[in-house]
Amino acid sequence: MRVFVVLSHTGPLSPDFPLADLPGSAGRLDILCRCATEAFLLSHGIRRDVRLYLVIRGKLIIRLDGATLRYLNPDERSTAALLRKAIGRAQDLAPGEWAPSTPGIHVRWGSIVDVRAELETGGVDMYVLEEEGEFIRGVPLPAEVAFFLSDHRDFTPEDLAQLEGLPRLSLGPLSLQAQTCIALVHNELDLREAGWTSASCR
Ligand SMILES: C[S@@+](CC[C@H](N)C(=O)[O-])C[C@H]1O[C@@H](n2cnc3c(N)ncnc32)[C@H](O)[C@@H]1O
Repeated sequence: MRVFVVLSHTGPLSPDFPLADLPGSAGRLDILCRCATEAFLLSHGIRRDVRLYLVIRGKLIIRLDGATLRYLNPDERSTAALLRKAIGRAQDLAPGEWAPSTPGIHVRWGSIVDVRAELETGGVDMYVLEEEGEFIRGVPLPAEVAFFLSDHRDFTPEDLAQLEGLPRLSLGPLSLQAQTCIALVHNELDLREAGWTSASCR
């Protein structure tokens, strides 16, 4: 399974935002929508062996599981509607309690620390995507692997403290948008799984 954990520093904690203003009053929810598109959608299909965590302001976790995910379409507006429903579902939850929202989407109050604990329990190896990390191409990666990345902002000192001890991987020399990073990681792992190497180029 491939796991992506996107840290949103400005996303909404309550569902009272219009779908017509995702970059503004929804606090750059558009970025999270594009991350969901890149994490799951193929040209005609869905990547089932993928999980996406969206950690909003270090407080709210939305988990999307490809195995059971439904109603994810390529447009940002309908994805935002799914996320808004999940945020609404969270409003009366006690801290730490997962609740189902739409099929394949769960929500709870919690932080990066809780996501790490869940992944550790599942035996998933974790990495942080960072411009200054080690180039991913030369790093052997297991089948059960998770990547933490930030939104349009840098990781905060608190994020970095909670990500302490995890190896850093870079995708290249330029600072890229979050959704591009997800697409590149998928491509890197797709190539490895298919056995495509530079020596096997046609
Ligand atoms: C738009 S960038 C964050 C903002 C950026 N650091 C800045 O302020 O200029 C989004 C995130 O994608 C990941 N990222 C971007 N470029 C990367 C690269 N070349 N290698 C690995 N991760 C990258 C990092 O997690 C980064 O925090």
